[in-house]
Amino acid sequence: MNVPQLICQKKNGEPLSREQIRFLVSNYVAGKIPDYQISALLMAIWFTGMTAAETTELTIAMAESGDVADLSAIEGVKADKHSTGGVADSTTLIVAPLVAACGCKVAKMSGRGLGHTGGTIDKLESIPGFSVDQSMSSFVQTVSDCGLSVIGQTADLAPADKLLYALRDVTCTVDSIPLIAASIMSKKLATGSDVIVLDVKTGNGAFMQDLPSAVCLAETMVKIGTAAGKKISALVTDMNQPLGSNVGNALEIREIIDVLNGKRSGDLKTVSFAIASQILITSGIASRIEHAHEKLENALTSGRALDCLARMIAAQSGNPGVVDQPELLPSAQLQIAVTAQTGGSIKFIDTARVGHCAAILGAGRKKKQDPIDPAVGICMEKRLGDQVVKGETLAVFHVNDEKHLRESMELFLKSIVIEENYADLPKLIYEVIGFDEKK
Ligand code: URA
Repeated sequence: MNVPQLICQKKNGEPLSREQIRFLVSNYVAGKIPDYQISALLMAIWFTGMTAAETTELTIAMAESGDVADLSAIEGVKADKHSTGGVADSTTLIVAPLVAACGCKVAKMSGRGLGHTGGTIDKLESIPGFSVDQSMSSFVQTVSDCGLSVIGQTADLAPADKLLYALRDVTCTVDSIPLIAASIMSKKLATGSDVIVLDVKTGNGAFMQDLPSAVCLAETMVKIGTAAGKKISALVTDMNQPLGSNVGNALEIREIIDVLNGKRSGDLKTVSFAIASQILITSGIASRIEHAHEKLENALTSGRALDCLARMIAAQSGNPGVVDQPELLPSAQLQIAVTAQTGGSIKFIDTARVGHCAAILGAGRKKKQDPIDPAVGICMEKRLGDQVVKGETLAVFHVNDEKHLRESMELFLKSIVIEENYADLPKLIYEVIGFDEKK
């Protein structure tokens, strides 16, 4: 096959065949096609798009470019979830123990935080002793024994995605729905679960800021998963404010524990229940949403979900005592309140900026190699639509190093718009793109 001809074909809007896509992906990963040709191809895809069949073929070729996890030793239904990322979105560590307590096995490989978004792996590493680096055999064993395991992505998972993502990043081709869908789904397919539930975020803290693009991404990924033989569904949920109250790694673990021990309700719990319900329905463990909710409420109030989390922590060398004594988690030296400069109601929160404020304090990173401080972050005390009076606390900053505190506080105050009139509240769950047994 001739690479320039394939680039021309795509540039002219003609679909690539399965063989052509496989040729391009495998030879690129083998170092036989140079970056400049793949860059041109990515730009041609950015402009002309991809058909559903091409997107599926690209995803499968990327998934098969490295190891595909073999979960066959784990009995029962194996489920995975994915969120497209946001701020204070710690649903994974609520959903996984909840559904595990209902009999569904969760084998999940997660990523680290970058930019304004947090990452599950960083959150888990704030638990003393917790290890996210596990061999495939210990991963499988922990899922079998505890019902769940969350680990870092193994080095050889979808290597084509690592190479293509790095190239997209420097060629302005990240924001292409078929390329994003193939990137996310290649990793999901390589992780090997039977059931996949996606949470696509939309709003000012999300990758997909507008609702139609988020819905289109969700539908594209559901089609890919279905074509690849998976049971898959997706939710499109709001990210126009941090989902939970706490932004920062150990702070988010505290909030997760509070949800699982029944002390906290609110949007984080609502979205977690919605995702967990979809997993139970898509897995066939529950028949209807009411049935799923009943099972989940029972897993929560009986303490079984929290127990599943504690067992996973122990199996991965962490201190399971954190679930009863969250004070064992790292905590920051200083707690500083940021107060409202004016009274009114919270009309707007620039969610990505709030994520950046936490990153400035040390909770996140700009570059992949940057170190993070697990203890620091921001606890929001107000949400969209809340009334505030001048001088009232909007958030508490948990700080270890005061060097960047002023910068972070100033940016935070610019992120919150307070006005006289009541805000128009966004919906929390926009769409559920359900699993269809007949497809
Ligand atoms: N997340 C991914 O894993 N890939 C993308 O392309 C975008 C977001």
